[in-house]
Amino acid sequence: MEYKIGRTLISKEELHSKISEIAAQIRRDYAGKELVCVGVLKGAVVFLADLIREIGPDVNVQVDFLAISSYGASTKSSGVVRIQKDLSTDIHGKNVLIVEDILDTGLSLGYIRQLMLERSPSSLAIAVLLDKPARHKQEVEVQYKGFTIPDEFVIGFGLDYAGHFRQLPEVCIAVPSEE
Ligand code: IMP
Ligand code: MG
Repeated sequence: MEYKIGRTLISKEELHSKISEIAAQIRRDYAGKELVCVGVLKGAVVFLADLIREIGPDVNVQVDFLAISSYGASTKSSGVVRIQKDLSTDIHGKNVLIVEDILDTGLSLGYIRQLMLERSPSSLAIAVLLDKPARHKQEVEVQYKGFTIPDEFVIGFGLDYAGHFRQLPEVCIAVPSEE
């Protein structure tokens, strides 16, 4: 099934002000400390880029990336999770913040969280831009959350359908195109 861009669910302005709020919380929690922000490729890239700039210089931020297997061309989670690209830094003894675009079933974040914990960071937290509670299969505790959204497939602001639409500056609903 093909999808096209539907109505805007979250505007640029809403995204910007929410990300500033989350950044302010992170600044409060980690002021004067080191923080390794681990972006989950590829969807978290846009959120991560905005988030770290909003966090600013009060936190000693480092950035790393992790890629796991994704949905491929389907919009339903396979539940199959594996590492495609691992971190390039050692997070042992570090404060780690996993940055993810969306908490859907929770299987990916559940897996990533476990993987990070096995490496003995001194602390571990999770930031997600979007949360789709209707689809949770595994409960994952999230410390910084942007928006709770309905059970719709969304695209834009990093989120894709089959690799497309990540560049949209807003979060939009993906609607099936009939032709
Ligand atoms: P989970 O393991 O089901 O929580 O899957 C999370 C991943 O699925 C995210 O990192 C996204 O890549 C993808 N995903 C889940 N829902 C959507 C959506 O509505 N649009 C685009 N990608 C989604
Ligand atoms: Mg993703």
